[in-house]
Amino acid sequence: MKVTFYGQSCFLVETMGKKLLFDPFITDNPLAKNIDPKKIEADYILLTHAHGDHISDAVSIAKRTGALIISNYEITNWAKAQDLKAHPINHGGKWQFDFGFCKYVNAVHTSSFPDGSYGGNPGGFVIWNNEGCFYHAGDTALTMDMKLIPMTCPPLDFAMLPIGDNFTMGYKDAAFAADFIECNQIIGCHFDTFGYIEIDKKEAKAAFEAKNKNLMLMKVGSTWAK
Ligand code: NI
Ligand code: MN
Repeated sequence: MKVTFYGQSCFLVETMGKKLLFDPFITDNPLAKNIDPKKIEADYILLTHAHGDHISDAVSIAKRTGALIISNYEITNWAKAQDLKAHPINHGGKWQFDFGFCKYVNAVHTSSFPDGSYGGNPGGFVIWNNEGCFYHAGDTALTMDMKLIPMTCPPLDFAMLPIGDNFTMGYKDAAFAADFIECNQIIGCHFDTFGYIEIDKKEAKAAFEAKNKNLMLMKVGSTWAK
């Protein structure tokens, strides 16, 4: 599995010969000014919730690439209304795609579109196949429901967790989340993009080291392989 970070919560994961793009927010992200969203290829676009900092480039990338949008029922209806292909999924449900299994899991957050309309309930994704298993938490608080993931999914190889605080859990709670999901390799996201979520990166890493876990803070545009 190859992971490329495009800022905020946007990752491209290449696995089983497919490209899975999560939460594209590039054009309006000052930290991603060196990324050209027109050059990103995707077979699938997975949207955790409807907030602008997770969906703002989804329609243009889906239109150009023909990618299938995977998200909750309300967000896929919004996508279909714009003539995009979409697969609706909801909390606790999983589906087998050609890249492997995709399960939509709980997140504690909100989910409205930038115009204020209803975006369903927010979630995260657990993806697994013969190459491995990972969790993209979306925007969420620390929640006991995270303990369900190791009970119901294969062991996680890595997980993307929000660490920026204010709108989501901060890094200290995210270190507890890493315990709950029984995962030692965490990729931090949803930090530094705007003032409310600026963090001390040394302290964030130390919070995970104290639990013998690794917090990776990827540079925007960089790639890591599991
Ligand atoms: Ni959000
Ligand atoms: Mn967000």
